[in-house]
Amino acid sequence: MKGMVFTELLGFVEQTFGADAVDDLIEASVLPSGGAYTAVGTYDHKEMQSLVTTLAAQSHTPANELLGLFGQHLIGRFKSSFPDFFKTAATLFDFLESIDRHIHVEVRKLYPDAELPEFRAERIGDGAMNLDYRSSRPFEALASGLILGAAHIYGETVRIERSSHENGGEKFVRFSIQKTGAIA
Ligand code: HEM
Repeated sequence: MKGMVFTELLGFVEQTFGADAVDDLIEASVLPSGGAYTAVGTYDHKEMQSLVTTLAAQSHTPANELLGLFGQHLIGRFKSSFPDFFKTAATLFDFLESIDRHIHVEVRKLYPDAELPEFRAERIGDGAMNLDYRSSRPFEALASGLILGAAHIYGETVRIERSSHENGGEKFVRFSIQKTGAIA
């Protein structure tokens, strides 16, 4: 996993729990890299899982909830670093359709060693979308937070249901996204 995701996680921890929490977290986690992340480096995604599991114990917050909150934080950071991805998509659903077609394609050009998931989007009428997430890594809670955060950026409110599926031995997670309104 790219170092920028780790540096952003530590920024999220600092902002949410304070600077001491970052030191405590790095000390208590199992980190073969030692925890001195650089944005352009690449680290085992298991270090992300170790950090989140340790933070869950230290903050008495479920790991998936933390990943979701981190996803909401991360999308805001992506908006600052990559504003064009948001400008080219007019609505949340346009944006979600562009992850696989455009965003992660560009991310791969920037970081050829990025480990990116696959998203397939299907619109169900005007107000709903199925977004299928395929990855060998278990970051669906992060994806869910990224979707919620993106909805907020687009001024839309959504309900997201998550379900696990298997198709010919291939596993995927489906996010069923229902528009519920607009943020006034
Ligand atoms: C401007 C928007 C976005 C940018 C710049 C971006 C960029 C990235 C980058 C750099 C990584 C790390 C790759 C690696 O670790 O090697 C990543 C991973 C990931 N992205 Fe995106 N992304 C964006 C939007 C989204 C959205 C909206 C979603 C969710 C629907 C999403 C879901 C994920 C997930 C779940 C991963 C973790 C890896 C995995 O699950 O296999 N991304 N993305």
